[in-house]
Amino acid sequence: MIIEVIKGDITEIHVDAIVNAANTSLLGGGGVDGAIHRKGGKAILEECVQIRNKQGGCKTGDAVITTAGNLPSKYVIHTVGPVWNGDKEEKSKLLADCYQNSLKLAVENGIKTIAFPNISTGIYHFPKDKAAEVALKAVKDFERISELEKILFVCFDDENYQIYKSIL
Ligand code: APR
Repeated sequence: MIIEVIKGDITEIHVDAIVNAANTSLLGGGGVDGAIHRKGGKAILEECVQIRNKQGGCKTGDAVITTAGNLPSKYVIHTVGPVWNGDKEEKSKLLADCYQNSLKLAVENGIKTIAFPNISTGIYHFPKDKAAEVALKAVKDFERISELEKILFVCFDDENYQIYKSIL
């Protein structure tokens, strides 16, 4: 199992599934959510709406899976990160849940290669260094990690990239 960190745009990554930092409505937004919907096309939103109609939105820490539409990947796994408010314990647990629930959905769908953005570190203001530690630990602690071949952390900004490189 390979864990790798790269700098780039997750909408251009060729893996089985990319992970989206969504919001509880699943109706799109800015940041990576906006980029994925914009480039992936309406098929993604249509499946998000079907999920909404079935189960409401997506709770913080949970994950849902849809087509990737026009993107190079096959699936998009949408997960909702916590909004940072200074409560390190509770928010770190919710952020770890995002990674583990995304990985759980991936193995349940036979996905072998997956790419994560730096969930919650943009509009949700989670401190980047804390988020990186939580993310890497959550992935390493995932009990079915042997069922995956490659986990990519795709950093859009240089700060995140340097933090991940220093930890890895
Ligand atoms: N590829 C990879 N990473 C990206 C991309 C991209 N194309 N665009 C942005 N990012 C990075 C940001 O630089 C940040 O490091 O994704 C990380 C997460 O930032 P946000 O997208 O702002 O997500 P988040 O902080 O989790 O906030 C989620 O923002 O877009 C809305 O609907 C979304 O309400 C939700 C909130």
